[in-house]
This record gives sequence, structure tokens and C-alpha cells, in this order.
Amino acid sequence: MQEIKSKNLLEIMKALKTTITLVALLMISSVMAQPKLTLKVDKAEKEVSPTLYGLMTEEINYSYEGGLYAQLIGNSSFKEDRNGARQAWGRWKPGGPKYWNVTDTINSHISLAMNDGINRANPVSLCFEAKVGSTLTNDGFWGIPVKPNEHFEGAFFAKGNSDAPMSVIVSLVSTDGKTVYAKQEVKNIDKSWSKHSFILDIPGEIKATKDVKFHITACQSGKYWLSRVTLFPETFKGRKNGLRKDLMQMMCEMHPKFLRFPGGNYLEGNDFRNRFDWKRTIGDPDERVGHMSPWGYRSSDGMGLLEFLLWAEDVGAEPLLGVFAGYTLNGDYITADYLDGFVNDALDEIEYIIGGVDTKWGAQRAKDGHPEPFSLRYVEIGNEDFFDRSNSYPGRYKKFYEAIKAKYPNLQIVSTIDAKMMADQAEKSGVKDIKLDVIDEHYYRNTESMYRAANQYDSYDRKGPKIFCGEWASREGKPTTNMNAALGDAAWMACMERNSDIVVAHCYAPLFVNVNPGAMQWESDLIGYDAISAYGSPSYYAQCMFAGNVGDKIVPVEASDIPTLTFGKDKLPQIYYSATKDSKNGKIYLKVVNGGSTKSDIIVNVDGAKVKSKGIKSVLSSEKPEDTNSIDNPKKIVPIVSKQKVGNKFNLTLAPYSITVLVM
Ligand code: AHR
Repeated sequence: MQEIKSKNLLEIMKALKTTITLVALLMISSVMAQPKLTLKVDKAEKEVSPTLYGLMTEEINYSYEGGLYAQLIGNSSFKEDRNGARQAWGRWKPGGPKYWNVTDTINSHISLAMNDGINRANPVSLCFEAKVGSTLTNDGFWGIPVKPNEHFEGAFFAKGNSDAPMSVIVSLVSTDGKTVYAKQEVKNIDKSWSKHSFILDIPGEIKATKDVKFHITACQSGKYWLSRVTLFPETFKGRKNGLRKDLMQMMCEMHPKFLRFPGGNYLEGNDFRNRFDWKRTIGDPDERVGHMSPWGYRSSDGMGLLEFLLWAEDVGAEPLLGVFAGYTLNGDYITADYLDGFVNDALDEIEYIIGGVDTKWGAQRAKDGHPEPFSLRYVEIGNEDFFDRSNSYPGRYKKFYEAIKAKYPNLQIVSTIDAKMMADQAEKSGVKDIKLDVIDEHYYRNTESMYRAANQYDSYDRKGPKIFCGEWASREGKPTTNMNAALGDAAWMACMERNSDIVVAHCYAPLFVNVNPGAMQWESDLIGYDAISAYGSPSYYAQCMFAGNVGDKIVPVEASDIPTLTFGKDKLPQIYYSATKDSKNGKIYLKVVNGGSTKSDIIVNVDGAKVKSKGIKSVLSSEKPEDTNSIDNPKKIVPIVSKQKVGNKFNLTLAPYSITVLVM
């Protein structure tokens, strides 16, 4: 009896086991239905904005000084003190001029010569009291980059205290003083100020290094006064007062359609004196005063308005101009009634950019070397005026809007606050009839928040103002962002691209960071560099992949069975996507982000177009989301290009933590 019972129990348990296995298999197969994306190519009606992908810039993280601006001498006008970034005029702190030193402190001495300068912009000079052989050194910006066959052009203003002409030797010397890479004697320094130029050519058989200083060595005993010491390597497209070649090349590879400048906080400045006062940034660089960046160091304004415009032109972009709108970061503002001077400055600035040579400021541009007008379609009034708690923005905005539209009706005006805030503030300040063309929205988030926001624009009002996402980033990793950030960026870009009928433009921020200790004010940036080399973060490559592969029509995509990722109590999609087509050549671009740690095999259906069998895909991926690129390992994560079999229905494998761009 006992035996029979056990046997029955065994049978029952066996049957139960089979049932459980079947149920489990059924459950798994229903959870794991293959994700599917269906591209409705015949429904691609909405236009992709022609200005969708662009760049945003300002003087932050030593972006220009010690960055893109190729000038290599730190503190070329002796206006920065070593003990603080504050301009040294009037108060000589014991620290001495930043970046400058003497090698022989017993026999030589430096001091600031107040009111003994070369012009109104540079009323202070450096007095170098020297014996024969005494040497003044400049550190550059964390070194001076010396490469085989490099050609440097430099200059300085000088005068001496001797009746007989004096001379110095300028040279590039290794930090340990053992190697002189190039030198030249500069003669005929007499008792009145004059500008002296020199050339330093580096031989071919040296090893590239940034452990180099610039030296000025006295050939006679006596006093030398110096001002505006500058040194340029070869620049992008050989422009005078030009820009660093490697960084410009990297930006070309981002295919930007616009360049938003000059900021950011840098437009506003900490106070009125230190706003971006464009009229003081044009003309001869030796006559530019320079000013403090709100990010704690001084700008020479060598990167002035024309340099920004040429930068845009040289990377194939158009300017997107921010005009100073009467509000500074310390909270000072000017009410609309007293704004005329600033409104006129903005009108003059626009004329400098797009006016014919028969206009006052167009003629000035021609005199500065660029007779052809630039093109311009967006002008932004201020920056982040949602920080202005005085409710003065509606009044200020309206003044600029009406004046600019009256003269340039085709320009689109960008507001820095949204429609709701504008309406609230307008009501409080009694300003009526405000028109909104475009709103600038800024989003600094982590990757999870980017995933959460990945449908944000799907539901925006199509009849309201257009959107310019003028600053955004997934902020993970420092100094530059990591792969996880690139995934969040790509999900967000897919959202903006799918909605680029309303999102007319967007740009990542900040663009640049000098990675030397002490140079960074803002963590998580796109492109990192030191004096001699540069690298792109995974986010940079995501930008290149997205902006370099985009059509002119938005292709609607239907998605099903998308797996999810768990964030706390919430589940968010694991896969994000966008598709566009080029109506001229028929190419279809599909972008897919896999935020999961496992690969995902998806089915892609293409409706409404005959797809040939060959596609090309670029994949950016890494094993771990925190993987990144760095100055020492610049290419750890780069896109890998391969062939992909495609058709009207095909399988596409998405690698773990990956961004895939497929061209069919
Ligand atoms: O991108 C860094 C800063 O963030 C910008 O200067 C400012 O506009 C924003 O707050």
C-alpha cells in the first residue's frame, strides 16, 4: 500500500513539473517577444529642420585661452595676476604676473609699469630689468606644444632704456632647460615702443612634446619694457589670429549647421563691465582690452566677434547670435525704458554680420577682412533670463524683438524664457503683445532623466513657438562624459530628431574642456584637450554619428515589444530610436539606442520603400556604461563601421550599451 502511494505521488509530481515548465516557457516567450521597429517611409512628410544639429560655445574651462584660440602665450598683456584672476591694474599683488617668471632672480627683476603701455587698451607693460643672459619665461597654457617641422610666428611690443639699440633672443626651450627647439634674435629694440615679429621653426627630427616654455633672454644689461607678447603655431586654414587645427577638424566632423555664441554666461558677464561687449572685440587684437570671463579667468578677447564668425564659416556652420540684453549674472538689469543703447548695439552687431559693405558696420567688417556678409537666421535675446527675478525680461525682450524685426523681418527671435513664464512675468510687469518665435530650453540631466524625457517633445503644441534646445547634456563622467552619458544623449537626440518639425535647432554644452588640473570649471564636457592633443568623449562620437547621418524628412516609426530597464520602482524603455530619409537620394537613416546590458535582436520592417540588400552601420558601444575616453586613452570608445544585411524586413542585433546608426 505504502509503495503504491509513493508511486502515485511520483507520477503526480512528474506531471506537475512538466506543467510548471510549460507555463514558465510560455511566460518567458510572451515576455521575450522580439522587439520590432516599423519604419513608415511612405508617411515621411514632416521636414527635418535644416539647422537641427549645431554647436554651443563660450569662454569656460579654458575653451579659447588655452584652448581653441591658437595663441600660446599665457597672459600676453600682463593683466592677470598669479594670485587671482582679477585684472592687476592699479594693484600689484605680490604674486606677480600669471604664467611669467625669471630664471635668475638675483640679477633680474620684473615689475608692472603702470601707465606705460602701448595704447589705451594696454596701458600697462612689464618692465624686465636684466643682466646679459637674464631670461624671462612664459609657461604657455600648461605647456607649449612643439611638434616636428612646426612653424611658429610671434610678436611683441618692446622698448629699452639704452641709447644704443638693444636685443633679445626668443626661444622655445624644454621645461628642464636642456633642449632649445628653436631660437631667433630680435634686434633694434630702442627707446620708443615698436612691434617686433619673429619666426621659430622647429626641426623635423624632434619628438613632439608640450613640456616646453617660451624664453626671452636679454642680450644687454638694462631695462626692457614689453607688451602683447604673442605666439601662434600654424592655424586652421592658415588664418591670422586663428584657431587650433585639431579642434577645428574635430568640429568639422560633427557636421554642425550653426554655432551659438558667445554664450552662455559669458554673454552676460558677472557685471556690466564684463559682459561680452562685441564692439571691444573687433579690429586689431593688440587694441582689444579683454575682460573677465564669469568662469574666473581673463579673456584677451583675441576670440572676438569676427573670429567667432570665421569659426562658424570654417566648420560649415552659420552663426546663431546671442545679443546682450541688459541683464548680468550678479542680478543687475536695465529696465526697458533705458535699454536703447543696448538695443542699438545689437542692431549694429547684426549689421556687422549681415549688412552690405555700404552700411556702417558692414563696411567695418569689410575693413576687418570679410567683405561678404555672413548668413544669419536666429538672434537670441540674452541668456537664461529665467534667473532674472525682477520680471524685467518681457519688457527687455519686447524692445529687442520689435527693433530687430523692424529692420530685419526675416530674422527669427529666440526668447530665453518659455511661453508660460513670459505670460506670467508680462502680466506682473504690465507688458502686452509679446510675440514668440522660438524658445530656448536648457536641460542638464543624468542618463536616467534623459530616458524619462525621451518622449518630451512628442506632445508639444505644434501651433506654439518653435523650440531651440540651446544647452543640454547627460552629465555623467568628468572631465568629459562617459558611455552612459552618450546613451542618454542619443536617446534625447532621437527625441529631438523625431520632433524636428518643432525642435528647429539644438546644441550640446559645454563643448570644450582643458583637462589640466585647475582648468575645468564645469564637469562633463564634450571634447577634452591639453596643449598638444585632443580627444572626443563617447558623447562627441554620438554627436558625429547623429549629425552626420540625417535626412530631410522625418520617418514615423512604430515600435512594439520594446524591453524595459528598471529604475527604482519604474520601468523605462531599453530601446530608443529615430528615422529620417533623404528625399533626394532615397537613403534611410535609422538610429537605435540600446541602454541595456544585454544585446537585443530586433526586427526592422521598412514600409513604403524598396530597400536594397546592403546597408552600412556604425556602432558605438562599450562593455561597461562608465567606460570612457581620456587624454591618455583617447580612442577606447569609437564608432565601428561594418556592413549590415538589410531589406524590407531584417534582423538587427543591438550590442549591449550601444548606439547604432544604420544607413540603407
Ligand atoms: O554651459 C554652462 C552654463 O550653463 C552656461 O554658461 C549657462 O548658460 C548655463 O547655466
